Amino acid sequence: MALHHGSDPTPADQLSINAVLTDANPALAERVSLPKSQLAAAPVPPDVAYQLIHDELLLDGSARLNLATFVTTWMEPQAKQLMADSVDKNMIDKDEYPQTAELERRCVAILADLWHAPALAEATGCSTTGSSEACMLAGLALQRRWAARVGDRSRRPNLVMGANVQVCWEKFCRYWDVEPRIVPMSGERFHLDAAHAVALCDEDTIGVVAILGSTFDGSYEPVAEIAEALDALAAGGGPDVPIHVDGASGAMIAPFLDPDLQWDFRLPRVASINTSGHKYGLVYPGVGWVIWRDSDALPAELIFNVNYLGGSMPTFALNFSRPGADVIAQYYNFFRLGREGYRAVQQAARDVALYLSDRIGAMPQFRLLSRGDELPVFAFTTTDQATGWDVFALSRALRERGWQVPAYTFPADRQDLSVLRVVCRNGFSQDLAENFLDSIQAAITQLEADAGPGVVSGPAGFRH
Ligand SMILES: Cc1ncc(COP(=O)(O)O)c(C=O)c1O
Repeated sequence: MALHHGSDPTPADQLSINAVLTDANPALAERVSLPKSQLAAAPVPPDVAYQLIHDELLLDGSARLNLATFVTTWMEPQAKQLMADSVDKNMIDKDEYPQTAELERRCVAILADLWHAPALAEATGCSTTGSSEACMLAGLALQRRWAARVGDRSRRPNLVMGANVQVCWEKFCRYWDVEPRIVPMSGERFHLDAAHAVALCDEDTIGVVAILGSTFDGSYEPVAEIAEALDALAAGGGPDVPIHVDGASGAMIAPFLDPDLQWDFRLPRVASINTSGHKYGLVYPGVGWVIWRDSDALPAELIFNVNYLGGSMPTFALNFSRPGADVIAQYYNFFRLGREGYRAVQQAARDVALYLSDRIGAMPQFRLLSRGDELPVFAFTTTDQATGWDVFALSRALRERGWQVPAYTFPADRQDLSVLRVVCRNGFSQDLAENFLDSIQAAITQLEADAGPGVVSGPAGFRH
């Protein structure tokens, strides 16, 4: 984050105080503005501070019209109330907040059960700040298991994954010096497949990351096929490579909407699974979860013991202090919705996604890359009927109407493909979907009327 280092403050460095506020606050009589990026010399009354910061945030987009994010943008008022009630609780203080710790334990047990851990008492897991931290922990466990197996510090571990992985896996590899072995996209294959995954594995492969589902187009990777191919590799005398399932979104969709799909601990090769509680777990940011199938999958050296009610409580996390409110909100959702509630909410999101993709796919200007029948997320690109504009121009035109729809280019080897992606979440109703379709139509009409050399303007730097 760049800091401004100008010598003399300019008006751009100051927040000006509306004269109405100054009149009502004699303490502000002499002050017309306040520094933005430096501490002011004296305090400001709380209502003035609130108003100025509140007003500055008006420039943010509307979270409900944000079709770019996977992260929850609506919760029930009762959940909000519980979060407000517990905003002062630190998750790490298990001794002081034993009941919050108990709710975390129950959430871990619920997820282990939902994902079919073979022996519930043996499954271990924890909450995190999100999937990124959960993936770091799962990756570390894979790395330590490999290191214990090979016992040779001079060797460099590698991790096999598709080019469609979320950036957290590239971070993991860079931060912990693991070689990323990336399977590029090819033709109409937009994610990892079994044959290419196995082809990259060797004795130094700590694991294969399978994604449920892909951030780029919402498709599920074929976890069972990858597991079967890795079983065959091991049976033939090759390396015995575990799978981590990055279920950031899909691990909270598939159990409810695709119960027969084999992707979880029912596959013996799946060592660990993560999800984002703040995505289809339906909680505001930030909470994530990671579960290991048994104690063998989580090396003991990664576990720290904190003092807990005079005893000892195992923890594994990168952060120490963390909000307890999100974990409490996660438990609220589990307790309140149950299986049927989650099923209904996720089905509604999938129905909206299928409806929208059907309508968009029928427009001559677009070609669907996915339909939203796995994650309730779909991606589409333009056909040669879109003349004089591209996905980036359309994304900007939709933004003018309040909708945030990311346009981006696919990774290697399909950088030639530029798409728009729509994420349907709880709270994106059929009514909003109709409005969205109207906005697309209006945006296209406008783009076609304006069509000229300046309109096709290329990527604007969206990072998914
Ligand atoms: C597949 C996948 N993995 C990991 C992440 C990172 O999740 P978080 O934002 O919870 O850290 C994302 C986020 O979109 C994702 O889609």
